Amino acid sequence: MKDVFPQVEDFTSGDLEAVFAPRDERAGELSGEQPYPVDIGGGRTAWRVAGNQVVRELLADPRTSVDDRDPRFPTKAPSQTAAWVTVQAFKSMDDPDHSRLRSVFEPHFDARATAMRRPRFEALAEELCDSLAQLGPPAEIVGSFAKPFTYRALGCVLGAPDSQWRRLQAIAEFSSSPALSATELTALLEHSLGFINELVDAGRGDPEADVIASALAGPVAAGTISERELVLTVRMLIAATGALMVNTLALATVLLSAHGDQRRRWLAGGPSFRRRGMLEVVRYLPIQTAGVSRLAIAGIDLGAVTIAAGDGILAALGVANRDPAAFTRPDALDLEREDLAAEVGFGYGPHDCMGRELALTLLEVAFATLYARFPALRPAAPLDEIGFTRNAFLFGLPELPVLW
Ligand code: HEM
Repeated sequence: MKDVFPQVEDFTSGDLEAVFAPRDERAGELSGEQPYPVDIGGGRTAWRVAGNQVVRELLADPRTSVDDRDPRFPTKAPSQTAAWVTVQAFKSMDDPDHSRLRSVFEPHFDARATAMRRPRFEALAEELCDSLAQLGPPAEIVGSFAKPFTYRALGCVLGAPDSQWRRLQAIAEFSSSPALSATELTALLEHSLGFINELVDAGRGDPEADVIASALAGPVAAGTISERELVLTVRMLIAATGALMVNTLALATVLLSAHGDQRRRWLAGGPSFRRRGMLEVVRYLPIQTAGVSRLAIAGIDLGAVTIAAGDGILAALGVANRDPAAFTRPDALDLEREDLAAEVGFGYGPHDCMGRELALTLLEVAFATLYARFPALRPAAPLDEIGFTRNAFLFGLPELPVLW
């Protein structure tokens, strides 16, 4: 096993920019008119928008909808739309249902609730570092750290038994697969709802204030939300967390390895300094390749361009996060960056990421623990041999052998 990987003493950055910010893909996106029409397949077009300010304006505009049941919604896999409609949760609902449901779950994800759970996340990261130390070097960090850390932490927030974390992983992984047929997707969704129903049944009467138990005792009992809405929300939360968290952890391992000086200063700082550094990592990594989608439900006049009611909108968050009008030296990673106000890696407006505090805390705890234990943690292969993947939805890293 140990001979399979070349011993790279110093992980050289190589052409990191070519991996994390392909200029050719961004060519013209920020310099031309905003927004501009793009072909989204099936004879359909949508408005692509990449300028940071216009992205934020549109994502905050009440004339844009996230309700993807409308056949004109610019989803990337139209064949799957019918299946997704059956599991609609607040991420794809407009007001008033969006606010009614989000406000029930939001307190579990705010800074206070997340800070209370932090010791459990730290203990989990330590435990997984112990396992890594037993496995290598080298060891494969996505399967042995990024995934168990993400899904076991999420299980702790939701109130799922720790032993069941691989079932959360399975739900998240099929949910971000564009390749499934409608029949396969329907079967997998039904199966996952069966599992979540079991969690909800087990959560009844549990005095711990995790998401499921407290929703049952509070808003479900009071009739503010139905039990079915709780089940569908839990499924959505698992899907919304999974691939984004796991890929951010994996890609950031490569990114931080190439920035040793910055990383050492980051590690020496306190939690809030380190949290800002993780926000910069999210700004820098273009994980959601297509960005986020909206449907215009009324005409929106943007000066040079008018978006008509019924038109699709694709907001390119990764490109907006590199807009020189919003950030100084946008293509440089700067873990001490001050100008992060326009950061949109967690979205913007009423549907901005509800798990932002949780995600930043998990990233900060993960890397603070990993680098404290393994200061020389780095990929086991040169950059051009790392198997990055990119599909219509996600830029990611399914496996990453590391040394330390
Ligand atoms: C690094 C990790 C993450 C990234 C980059 C990320 C990014 C995003 C983005 C861009 C959106 C906006 C989607 C849109 O506008 O259509 C979003 C929404 C959302 N995210 Fe995250 N997310 C992450 C982790 C998490 C975690 C850990 C949770 C935990 C539950 C979560 C829960 C949600 C939810 C519920 C929404 C929908 C909010 C709404 O519609 O009101 N995310 N996320």
